[in-house]
Amino acid sequence: MGDIVVADTIESIRRFVDAARAKNLRIGFVPTMGYLHEGHLSLVRRAALESDLVVASIFVNPTQFNNPEDLKKYPRDIPRDLELLRSVGTAAVFLPTPEMIYGSGFQSWVNLKDLTSSLEGAHRPGHFQGVTTIVSILFNLVEADCAVFGEKDFQQLRIIERMVEDLKFRVKIIRGELVRDPDGLAMSSRNVRLSPESRAVALGISRGLRAAVAASTAGEHRAGTLRALVARELAGAAVEIDYIAIADEATLSEVELVTGPSRILVAATIGGVRLIDNMALRPVVSP
Ligand code: PAF
Repeated sequence: MGDIVVADTIESIRRFVDAARAKNLRIGFVPTMGYLHEGHLSLVRRAALESDLVVASIFVNPTQFNNPEDLKKYPRDIPRDLELLRSVGTAAVFLPTPEMIYGSGFQSWVNLKDLTSSLEGAHRPGHFQGVTTIVSILFNLVEADCAVFGEKDFQQLRIIERMVEDLKFRVKIIRGELVRDPDGLAMSSRNVRLSPESRAVALGISRGLRAAVAASTAGEHRAGTLRALVARELAGAAVEIDYIAIADEATLSEVELVTGPSRILVAATIGGVRLIDNMALRPVVSP
């Protein structure tokens, strides 16, 4: 694999992008907050399939953290991240600072109406405004042909898809698969903060989701019954559940009867670490 270009100023990422576009190269983009794992690398590989070169960004975006403690504890390791990105053939990585992005006097925010109010939006005020604003800024800087967002943050993915459609960004959004560890835990940069005991408890989330998917496939349409299958796997453990919800896959409105493509989504804090996970529900509808 060749070397990776590290762009740590707005001018240098723009220079890189201009040079690529002058050669008619299609740019694939993977925005991240760093502390990369196999899930991120699978997004880079996916972007590479759809483009001539991949640009990644690493930026722990302060405006999407509603909890200052979470921002402080967010794991960071840039040298390791650069090595991982290089190993999967990333052409360039953009490493901005908060000062570069949110210079003094910053006051332009991107807000969506309905999709941001439920689930994560209800539990993390301001979170999605931070996400949509930083993603818009990054789209303007990287000018990619396509960008890959993982299904792990399913609500975020739907919000970005909507935003791109509404605001007519040129970039094509590609859904990247949710990658799990062999024990079933959805990969997340936050997982390193789980103690072995908390990790064992956290496995109840994917176990419960799998049980709900199996029941749905077997013909159970009642959302309450499916949600209870997840709750049962977490019962009795030291878990703070923010939500176990079933929502229409497109609108993210909660449903009580699962009759079309839907998602079952969970957010819970275990051992001080907030985790999210989700799976698709594809109910069998009788003819
Ligand atoms: O999913 C993430 O890592 C972040 O929310 C994103 C899209 C990089 C914006 O900061």
